[in-house]
Amino acid sequence: MSEPPAPATYVLITGASSGIGRDMAISLSGEHRLILNGRDAERLEQTRLACQAPDRHRCWPHDLADVTTLASALPAFLRQHDALVVGFVHCAAQLKVLPLRSITIAHAQDVMNTNVLAALEITRLLLRKDVNSKMLTNIVFVSSIASQFGARGFTTYCASKAALDGLMKALAVELAPGVRVNSVLPGSIRTPMTETIFADPVTAERLVKDYPLGIGLPSDITHAVTFLMSDQARWITGHQMVVDGGRSANISA
Ligand SMILES: NC(=O)c1ccc[n+]([C@@H]2O[C@H](COP(=O)([O-])OP(=O)(O)OC[C@H]3O[C@@H](n4cnc5c(N)ncnc54)[C@H](OP(=O)(O)O)[C@@H]3O)[C@@H](O)[C@H]2O)c1
Repeated sequence: MSEPPAPATYVLITGASSGIGRDMAISLSGEHRLILNGRDAERLEQTRLACQAPDRHRCWPHDLADVTTLASALPAFLRQHDALVVGFVHCAAQLKVLPLRSITIAHAQDVMNTNVLAALEITRLLLRKDVNSKMLTNIVFVSSIASQFGARGFTTYCASKAALDGLMKALAVELAPGVRVNSVLPGSIRTPMTETIFADPVTAERLVKDYPLGIGLPSDITHAVTFLMSDQARWITGHQMVVDGGRSANISA
């Protein structure tokens, strides 16, 4: 009698329906089977169809702000597709530029759930033997240089990205040597997230001046994530990789 086929292994990318996450999915799709997460099922499907060998990849529409539902939704999805996850890239995030007086606790909780607690919960679930057979070996969180600095209206975003980097370092220590955990800290990239920021010509011109190497592209972040996921980074864990065209080195800005 022949053995049943082994479950297929996947890389899970959150935020895959747009911007940097979509670029990353398309780029990684030649080498890995992918699970693509976002809220918008139609845009996720567009990403899947833009990938190499679309039939190998799966869309998983799920709102990460509903962090308490992940404990049932993610294992059910993996069982349904007979899938095991070897790599996890958390790229999803919410950014609403709001002055402190306009922030509600409900909004702050949504941001923390999506940007940080979903990363914690997905990692926790993927490390459970009954959910993922201890197959996870590699995690990259897409953070931001906003984890290191302040900016007007960025209260919840900065707090969430600083927490994400703290989570990354603690996990890197706790999960070694079996799992490597790193983060990439992008500077400004033109995507739907930053559309309104770049739409203001004064802000756009100032941003270009502040960046010694100019404004970045989604592929600049994809390349950093690809390196951290690869065996060439086998001795790198707990690292915050700044990819910002020199912005955070520039105190003349
Ligand atoms: N663009 C920049 O300048 C910049 C700079 C520094 C860091 N970053 C980081 O890079 C990452 C990607 O950003 P981006 O510029 O590519 O932004 P984007 O185009 O707005 O994409 C954000 C992604 O996050 C997903 N997402 C948001 N809320 C979600 C939720 N509640 N549940 C599930 N998915 C959710 C969105 O999915 P749906 O639309 O389907 O809901 C979308 O796929 C983020 O972590 C961001 O903080 C970006």
